Amino acid sequence: MADTLEAAKGNISKKGFLDMEVDPTLDLVAEIEKLKKEKNAIILAHYYQESEIQDVADYIGDSLGLSQQAAKTEADMIVFAGVHFMAETAKMLSPSKKVVLPDLKAGCSLADSCPPHLFRKFKEKYPDHVVVSYINCTAELKTLTDICCTSSNAEHVINSIPKDKGIIFAPDRNLGAYLIKKTGRDLVLWNGTCMVHEIFSNEKITKLQVRFPKAKLIAHPECESHILDKADFIGSTSGLLKYTKESEYTEFIVATESGIIHQMELASPSKTFIPAPPNNDNCACNECPYMRLNTMEKLYLAMKYEQPEIILEDWIIEQGVASIDRMLEISAKAGL
Ligand code: 13P
Ligand code: SF4
Repeated sequence: MADTLEAAKGNISKKGFLDMEVDPTLDLVAEIEKLKKEKNAIILAHYYQESEIQDVADYIGDSLGLSQQAAKTEADMIVFAGVHFMAETAKMLSPSKKVVLPDLKAGCSLADSCPPHLFRKFKEKYPDHVVVSYINCTAELKTLTDICCTSSNAEHVINSIPKDKGIIFAPDRNLGAYLIKKTGRDLVLWNGTCMVHEIFSNEKITKLQVRFPKAKLIAHPECESHILDKADFIGSTSGLLKYTKESEYTEFIVATESGIIHQMELASPSKTFIPAPPNNDNCACNECPYMRLNTMEKLYLAMKYEQPEIILEDWIIEQGVASIDRMLEISAKAGL
């Protein structure tokens, strides 16, 4: 293993993170707190991060909340404990700031399912359509997008578009199908999915519902329609968290990445949260393999050495940021 920064940097491109030993006796929480102050850094973490990372974050939230924080922070360095498209979004919103991601390989199957060169051809077939892209897409895809959305503002974004306008929705076909039902609009869908949300087992959830008859099934709109059709509540990660906090019910089967359960348990310690089971018994498929690449050690090294850094070409920022700004404007108008 590399033991100098220069040697380690050489490995970032191959491994995606700083390949250096971390002294196992270090108090990582204390060191991270110290680095935050020294470097005027802010840690933004998504709800799908492991609990320890959530506990050291300055802000924990869903994709919309994280973008809003990235746009308004006065920190010099944004440490993004999430995945690549989220860190790219932060860089586009705050281009003068340093944005680091503990592991550059923390990608997203949904973002990967929509390569910009193929999407460009798809878009050419519908020249008069407005393009709405879920924020879970690459920075380059955002340059081909009119308005971004997240799961918490998607309905508002679709409803903001004049009724006589056609709409392409990319890349998540499940969220897209859900929006067709909710808004009554005829969206042209890109055929992408999230590898975590497409694996929940309908049969095993039904068995859990029989075992826990009082439990409410709550689901993220990235889930397949057969799961959404039986859900008692559908929402973004922050929407699901709010529902469990405010609900009179005390048992929930949670059909989204299981990392969110940490905040649910902190907010409602007397309630019971059961992760929805995946089809395959032999994998923790309800944990996002990309989100979980970030570790406390990688977070500490990223803060200490300010690497790996998110670098975007100027044209990508210039052409892509308008779609995120429009989303933030629509959200602000809707009070989100
Ligand atoms: P939200 O937290 O915005 O609901 O998004 C979920 C997700 O899949 C992020 O990758
Ligand atoms: Fe992407 Fe799904 Fe992981 Fe979210 S949970 S980062 S959508 S692969």
